[in-house]
Amino acid sequence: MANPSLLILAGDGIGPEVMDEVKRIIGWFGDKRDLTFDVSEDLVGGAAYDAHGVPLHDDTMAKAQDVDAVLLGAVGGPKYDDLDFSVKPERGLLRLRKEMDLFANLRPAQCFDALADFSSLKKELIAGLDIMIVRELTSGVYFGEPRGIHIENNMRVGINTQRYTEAEIERAARAAFELAKKRGNKVCSMEKANVMESGILWRDVVNEVHQADYADVELSHMYADNGAMQLVRAPKQFDVILTDNLFGDILSDCAAMLTGSLGMLPSASLGLPMANGRPKAMYEPVHGSAPDITGQAKANPIACILSFAMALRYSFDQGAEADRLEAAIEKVLADGARTADLMGPEGGTPLSTSEMGDVILAALDASL
Ligand code: IPM
Ligand code: MG
Repeated sequence: MANPSLLILAGDGIGPEVMDEVKRIIGWFGDKRDLTFDVSEDLVGGAAYDAHGVPLHDDTMAKAQDVDAVLLGAVGGPKYDDLDFSVKPERGLLRLRKEMDLFANLRPAQCFDALADFSSLKKELIAGLDIMIVRELTSGVYFGEPRGIHIENNMRVGINTQRYTEAEIERAARAAFELAKKRGNKVCSMEKANVMESGILWRDVVNEVHQADYADVELSHMYADNGAMQLVRAPKQFDVILTDNLFGDILSDCAAMLTGSLGMLPSASLGLPMANGRPKAMYEPVHGSAPDITGQAKANPIACILSFAMALRYSFDQGAEADRLEAAIEKVLADGARTADLMGPEGGTPLSTSEMGDVILAALDASL
């Protein structure tokens, strides 16, 4: 059988820096675990704009549709702030999500024991935390029409539309229930059914899917504002959180920070099964391009490496190898390995991006 294929789109800012470490990890699995990937690379975001005048070239889009999984670094940066909206780096990312139809965005927020002191919350609130946010990723206000800035009565009016079909809600809900069955068997769905019709429909459809096929999963509903509050009050009450595109964007940053650093959080964006049975998939860290630390070898590569672990698990059916990689990361953190974002008030010398890669590779070797 042919090797599984990966398209790496490292993007902007620290994207290429953290992706360099992922490439070494991918190489390790080829050398040591006989798990060889055919890796190709291309441009996205500002890097693509600089080369082609668009944040995602059509050829790159076609390649993304063709591979088994896409690994993305990060997009954006101050250099591109004044670009026209239609060619902003983020549009490249949104095009990938939309055209690959990656409707289920999985954002796990897990607290590593060694980092429990880094959270802005009290240690006992987050020690052992293990939440999975399932964010709908291809619809809602990110893509709804009409949209734009128009002139009405000599005044500018900004318009975006929150729009969900029941089919879109249903498939996101199914993804959440399926995941819950493999975890804590609980789903909490979040919307604003108190003020939005799309929220009323969301709640109804989630209930229908639940009653029809997942009655054995514990289901609750929360208004998204209360959900944000509960996430910082008592985050361990949650197992799987199901929510829409915009609320999911906000709630996942909030959940991520519970764990101490945005530099730790991976994500998987999954779509429908392809002809080979694998889901359409893109994996990316939750953090952004971090222009403030770009080029300083300070970035934490762990979120991006954990995103590759998610690829092993969700695209390549290599759960045991994903466990191995996650355990290696847990081990180096327990041993005190820290990049700059993970330095406590006691100080010390942080590891550089590639030094963190070195210790993770050493822990992988030790796992054999
Ligand atoms: C995310 C990011 C993106 C989003 C941006 C970069 C378009 O914040 O993945 O959470 O808003 O979805
Ligand atoms: Mg976001």
